[in-house]
Amino acid sequence: MSTNKNLISKRKKEHIDLCLTDEVSFKNKTNGFDNYDFIHCATTEVDLNEIDFRTEFLKKNISFPFLISCMTGGTEEAENINLRLATVASELNIPIGVGSQRHSLDDEKYNRTYKVIRENAKSVPILGNIGAAQIVQLKDYSIVQRLVDLVEADAMVIHLNPLQELLQKEGEPYFKGLLSSIYNLKQKLNVPIIIKEVGAGISIDSAKNLLDIGVAGIDVAGAGGTSWASVEILRNNEKKNNQFWDWGLPTSYCIKNIKSLKENYHFTLIGSGGINNAFNNAKAFALGADLTASARIILQTLINAGSTGVIKLITDWFEILKKIMFLTGSNNLNELRDNKIIKKEDLY
Ligand SMILES: Cc1cc2nc3c(=O)[nH]c(=O)nc-3n(C[C@H](O)[C@H](O)[C@H](O)COP(=O)(O)O)c2cc1C
Repeated sequence: MSTNKNLISKRKKEHIDLCLTDEVSFKNKTNGFDNYDFIHCATTEVDLNEIDFRTEFLKKNISFPFLISCMTGGTEEAENINLRLATVASELNIPIGVGSQRHSLDDEKYNRTYKVIRENAKSVPILGNIGAAQIVQLKDYSIVQRLVDLVEADAMVIHLNPLQELLQKEGEPYFKGLLSSIYNLKQKLNVPIIIKEVGAGISIDSAKNLLDIGVAGIDVAGAGGTSWASVEILRNNEKKNNQFWDWGLPTSYCIKNIKSLKENYHFTLIGSGGINNAFNNAKAFALGADLTASARIILQTLINAGSTGVIKLITDWFEILKKIMFLTGSNNLNELRDNKIIKKEDLY
């Protein structure tokens, strides 16, 4: 058992190291945002100074609708990373996710690497995290409540990662009973459940299945950003021409399609997967995201430019978003979400 725990911790460290390189990007697939352009509004009357991004998420007031995606925990290096990410979240008053809490299911050794987030971000929404592969094996769901309590989470995120489990050498690609397990877990938890992918996206049909069992939010984590297939292919020292490297539904496609479910379901739609610049961030909102989120670029910026670098990155994105809202005649994000973006092919 302890060998298994050491393996998990070693894997977490390898994930961090690989994600600090750009080798783990998609090769021939993008997140799709480049296929879109904004509709310029020559008659704009928007006052840049009146644009306000404050909103509510998980019953807490936040200053920007932006989430620092679930990344790490369960390995030595994670404590310092999480501490610094928590400082950023606290300073900007934005939500933050913890990395998979799998390690804490049966070992307390690395609990500090997760707890450090709430200790340094006292009032922001925090998202706990566990994999679907673990949920389907659980006999006692109350253990997940313990994970929630450990980080004083405002919601529990379950990550769906069939592609990653399939390619990972220690992977567990067994998801029989997935939807009923999530449904049963929902009855036991005192916080809402948010579902995310990890970079292969969520289709409208999968989203519908999840909303039918009552999940509160969907984070598409689409293709075009970090390829988790590539992370596992590189860990396996396999040939780089593995055709699964680029598997997945592009982020823009997922957001656009899942947004249409808002007509019939009440849920939070999080747009993520390769949101690596201000225009991608803005296009994710224009296509219908309630919140946007990023992972790898945040980690890379933290390591290269520290917490102040991450704060600058995120605030710059939202300053540019204001300019885009001005130029599209959008006084607020709801107006930006209302027909302010067009497929480039329709422009000619
Ligand atoms: C170093 C690192 C570790 C990650 N670990 C987790 C994890 O434990 N749980 C999870 O749900 N997602 C995890 N992810 C996936 C991200 O949350 C995100 O969905 C994915 O990387 C796509 O976003 P990106 O293109 O902005 O990186 C991790 C991402 C990175 C970069």
